[in-house]
Amino acid sequence: MAELEVKGADAPEPEAIALCNSDALLNSGDAVPFDVVYCGQSCMAFAIRYEGQVHAYLNRCSHVPMEMDYQPNRFFDLTGHWLICATHGATYSPKTGACKGGPCRGGLIKIETSEQDGVVHWHTARQLRNVNF
Ligand code: FES
Repeated sequence: MAELEVKGADAPEPEAIALCNSDALLNSGDAVPFDVVYCGQSCMAFAIRYEGQVHAYLNRCSHVPMEMDYQPNRFFDLTGHWLICATHGATYSPKTGACKGGPCRGGLIKIETSEQDGVVHWHTARQLRNVNF
């Protein structure tokens, strides 16, 4: 007898995970870090605010898969308009994570976010899970 195929069994519904209060993220200011599991690996991620909108990315440079902050939670360059990797200076758009200059090999991996009632959430996705303790 054939087994029933359970569609989407390995793709749970996306979940919104509370990250921080909205006022913890200032325009072009420090990031709020968080842990994720991406493709089965534990990774750091970060959320920033730019021109009023919250954005989040894996903390992993596309040049060499290293964390990018040059001081803890500092990702913006001195202009406050680009995210910069401390190691070799790759720069990325804070809005999209797209490579803007330097030795990037593609863009940053973006994480969906939402903001409601003064709270920022990040959203799980197919390859992006919450860390289960
Ligand atoms: S590791 Fe980020 S620019 Fe080289």
